[in-house]
Amino acid sequence: MAYQRKDSWYRRAKQEGYRSRAAYKLIELQRRCRLFAQGMRVVDLGCAPGGWLQVAAKDVGGKGRVAGIDRLEVEPLGLPQTVALVGNIYDREACDRLREVLGGRADVVLSDMAPDTSGVGDADHVRSLELARAAFEAAGRLLRLGGTLVCKVFDGLDLNDLIMDWKSAFGKVRRIRPESTRKGSRELYLVARPFERGSAL
Ligand SMILES: C[S@@+](CC[C@H](N)C(=O)[O-])C[C@H]1O[C@@H](n2cnc3c(N)ncnc32)[C@H](O)[C@@H]1O
Repeated sequence: MAYQRKDSWYRRAKQEGYRSRAAYKLIELQRRCRLFAQGMRVVDLGCAPGGWLQVAAKDVGGKGRVAGIDRLEVEPLGLPQTVALVGNIYDREACDRLREVLGGRADVVLSDMAPDTSGVGDADHVRSLELARAAFEAAGRLLRLGGTLVCKVFDGLDLNDLIMDWKSAFGKVRRIRPESTRKGSRELYLVARPFERGSAL
């Protein structure tokens, strides 16, 4: 609904030139977890309209590389270290292209992917975990050892099982709910690191 979308974070994003209010979630995750450093390679799954690409590009600087993918096109950002592909995360070839444009394995894989929500909390939770599992699988092929996966999920009954699975590949999995998350939303982020085992290592 329009009145929800145009909250203070939305207005701030407009004023400060960010493509999305979601940019502030990544800024907070960076402040709390120190995800990025200059020169890093970053993958952004579900990157449209481009707010996270902007934040990551700034933090990795001109010598870093940020490669995103989304089913939707991202309007050009004018950031030379950033590439945004159009594709679906379930398409394995799309993931291979990400690795190609990145020029190697990533230090950080981000996923802010969200399902088309139905308004039924439990159904949306299940669909968000499907996307999180797809992000986990992609991370197995894209992340370097010691790397970090950051992934949006909607909280619910099956989240603990997913976290247990992730602990087979990552040293630690933290749950973080950024301040700019809408009140009443089940959304939170998993920050999993260091990456220890992947499918294609
Ligand atoms: C909340 S938005 C991401 C916002 C972004 N982080 C930003 O700051 O601009 C979620 C995105 O996930 C994308 N998405 C959902 N399912 C996807 C899939 N299977 N493959 C690729 N992208 C997907 C949607 O198209 C949508 O653009």
